[in-house]
Amino acid sequence: MRSAALSLGLISGISAFRIPLSQALEQLPLADARKELVSSSGLQDQIHASNLLDRAKVLYGLAEQAIDEYNHPTRVIGSKGHLATLDYIYSTIVGLGDYYDVTNQSFPAVSGNVYESRLVLGHEVPVSARPMGLTPATKNKQPVYGQLILVSNQGCDVADYPSDLAGAIALIKRGTCPFGTKSELAGKAGALAAVVYNNEPGEMSGTLGTPSPNHVATFGLSDTDAAPFVHKLKHGKKVDSIAYIDATVDTIHTTNIIAQTKGGNPENCVMLGGHSDSVTEGPGINDDGSGTLTLLEIATQLTKYSINNCVRFAWWAAEEEGLLGSDYYVSVLSEEENLKIRLFMDYDMLASPNFAYQVYNATNAVNPVGSEELRDLYTEFYVSHGLNFSYIPFDGRSDYDGFIRNGIPGGGIATGAEGVKTEEEQMMYGGVAGDWYDPCYHQLCDNLGNLNATAWEINSKLVAHTVATYALSFEGFPARTGTNSNAMELEKRKYHGPKLLM
Ligand SMILES: *[C@@H]1O[C@H](CO)[C@@H](O)[C@H](O)[C@H]1NC(C)=O
Ligand SMILES: *[C@@H]1O[C@H](CO)[C@@H](O)[C@H](O)[C@H]1NC(C)=O
Ligand SMILES: *[C@@H]1O[C@H](CO)[C@@H](O)[C@H](O)[C@H]1NC(C)=O
Ligand SMILES: *[C@@H]1O[C@H](CO)[C@@H](O)[C@H](O)[C@H]1NC(C)=O
Ligand SMILES: [Zn+2]
Repeated sequence: MRSAALSLGLISGISAFRIPLSQALEQLPLADARKELVSSSGLQDQIHASNLLDRAKVLYGLAEQAIDEYNHPTRVIGSKGHLATLDYIYSTIVGLGDYYDVTNQSFPAVSGNVYESRLVLGHEVPVSARPMGLTPATKNKQPVYGQLILVSNQGCDVADYPSDLAGAIALIKRGTCPFGTKSELAGKAGALAAVVYNNEPGEMSGTLGTPSPNHVATFGLSDTDAAPFVHKLKHGKKVDSIAYIDATVDTIHTTNIIAQTKGGNPENCVMLGGHSDSVTEGPGINDDGSGTLTLLEIATQLTKYSINNCVRFAWWAAEEEGLLGSDYYVSVLSEEENLKIRLFMDYDMLASPNFAYQVYNATNAVNPVGSEELRDLYTEFYVSHGLNFSYIPFDGRSDYDGFIRNGIPGGGIATGAEGVKTEEEQMMYGGVAGDWYDPCYHQLCDNLGNLNATAWEINSKLVAHTVATYALSFEGFPARTGTNSNAMELEKRKYHGPKLLM
């Protein structure tokens, strides 16, 4: 009797329990209440190089959709390769069910294309001459002829531009103010074109930044290529010159994609981002296919867990045009929304073939408080795994810049772009001293062969570690203090995006 009653009770107990439980769950705000709470080790265990590499193959296929128009694979904004990338990100997140709210944020982006260019100084064609990013064409997209005229000082003041510049070509020294300002002042003085030469050793390719109607066609030039002409002009000699740039600067609309967990405290968000676009020259599988796909894989794996704090993923567009997507995003945040973002983590290039484990040296002394706690979380991870790491400048070259300019703590990791690996770094990381960290940076060969799977997997586990750590708790992490930034410090930066601005 006893046991029969017991088993009967048990059976009816189960069936009676089933209905109220499912009803109760529907009433809970968190659809994932039955899921295990996220842990760093749990989320890291879900990260496998094979999954990342499978996604890279998909991404390369998407870049190939641009071949019709560009003759090579690319995911530059406006291309079919980029549109397909956006569809892939969006549909992957939507395909995860109701774990995330996904939004598209459309914004205007200037996009420059240089089709042809030529600079002739005297009888020479200087090999280092590079048209600047977002440069306008020369008049009627035809060569212009004029005297080369040396501008005084660093060309940051109207008075530096001599009156005989009208109808001539301005030669201006780099430094003190942005290239865009020099081009504009040269244009206002009537110059047909401008050449900015480097004030430190080496070639120089920069961007004019936000277009201005007064910009003139502008080249960058190395210090050594410029030196003989500076000398001639200072000695009163004449240098007949020809400048030619065929280029367009267009405004197009492109899209940031934002995915935020429905679960977790929405007042306390962990935010991370990578950029969905590449440069025109290539498919951008490392830059920033690697960061884009790490985020997509982590967003996928995170759905297995419940979380305490909201997690917000961003795939920025038009990073390569000068951080346009992330700047736009931050610029339209209300103060209230801004303050909900506890920190922003930037993941741009995680798998460079000749990699170093680079951590942005984001200190609290010059950045919003909390940046340094994040920096230390990265370095502790490398140290605890017996790996070496290197600090690199936190100087405005990627999408964190808009955040730290608006009071949001930021940081991130990277594996290196066009920098040269040192002998010391070869001992620390392997690879080849004397070569670029990414020998295919911003080139056609940034393809499936341009990934180091070891570095990519370790860094993706580190990204998982940061997401899980803060999704669990912000204990010990400084509270937000406001939306201001250290403006004096930021003024000195030579970068806002991948290209030099000054
Ligand atoms: C958002 O953008 C993606 C990628 O372009 C697109 O596939 C999707 O339909 C868009 N969704 C909405 C709601 O506009
Ligand atoms: C990191 O940045 C701080 C300034 O914020 C500077 O004092 C320190 O030397 C930097 N460290 C490295 C290794 O670059
Ligand atoms: C770290 O760098 C040192 C050289 O500074 C090297 O001897 C060591 O093997 C490196 N560690 C790893 C895990 O590569
Ligand atoms: C990745 O880097 C490691 C360490 O330098 C090296 O042993 C490995 O061969 C590299 N893998 C690829 C696919 O390049
Ligand atoms: Zn990048």
